[in-house]
Amino acid sequence: MNDSTLRVEVSDGVGLLTLDRPKALNALNSQLIGELNQALDRLEADPAVGCIVITGSARAFAAGADIKEMVDLSYPQSYLGDFFAAADRIAQRRKPLIAAVAGYALGGGCELALMCDFIYAADTARFGLPEVTLGVMPGIGGTQRLTWALGKSKAMEMCLTGRQMDALEAERAGLVARVIPADALLEETLQVARAIAGRSRQSVLMIKESVNRALEIGLAEGIRFERRLFHSLFATADQKEGMQAFIDKRAAQFGHR
Ligand code: HXC
Repeated sequence: MNDSTLRVEVSDGVGLLTLDRPKALNALNSQLIGELNQALDRLEADPAVGCIVITGSARAFAAGADIKEMVDLSYPQSYLGDFFAAADRIAQRRKPLIAAVAGYALGGGCELALMCDFIYAADTARFGLPEVTLGVMPGIGGTQRLTWALGKSKAMEMCLTGRQMDALEAERAGLVARVIPADALLEETLQVARAIAGRSRQSVLMIKESVNRALEIGLAEGIRFERRLFHSLFATADQKEGMQAFIDKRAAQFGHR
């Protein structure tokens, strides 16, 4: 195993995970994702921990998935090995995760931040999904979570152009909860994390679960739900009356039952 790519500290009820691959701007390789999951497993199981913060360096939260690890990957290797499936586990945690982002959060790095429950950004932060420039696409939830966060137009523009968004635009667009001067980012984030860790654990976990539920009914599921309801309206007298009235050029007389 190579040297550790992650630093883990626990104090005052907060687990702090610092991505630590400085030479690669914290690019997410399999080792880093593995270490992140192991650390999250431990922190989730530790009753002393009530909130978790994920951060990087001043220069980069993470500059993406590791391009050097992916360049020679074949389709069968990627598909059969379910490449990057392990990253999904990061988003399945029950305790709150806060991303404290300074510098680059690009590609998989931006997607990692989006997997957290909310993002605090240093004024130096830059967000983007540049996968399109590499001939690929976001693969760890970026097309879905960015669209939830920004709405279709802005998310589509970001994904199709690969352009970067600065911290202020990210705050205006709703991607980040707050922008903080870079030198205060970690301390202010830890302060908020400590406050959350000090609340009722049950209350915090249920709030997280419930807010996430609002997002879990996806577009396809929502449209199917809508379509079933739409079909059921053809069982009503009001549909017959409403449509017949249109054809007859008269006002409809609905039942109001
Ligand atoms: C591997 C990376 C890397 C990455 C940077 N490095 N990003 N290595 N994967 N994603 C390495 C560089 O190769 C270089 O190593 C070192 O980090 C410093 O980077 P520089 O490019 O020299 O720094 P700078 O000129 O300051 O530019 C910073 C940068 C640029 C703008 C962030 O590094 C960049 O564009 N990186 C790639 C961003 C990107 O495309 N991310 C999306 C990846 S795809 P050496 O050895 O040369 O010093 C992705 C897919 C997700 O995330 C879906 C997966 C399922």
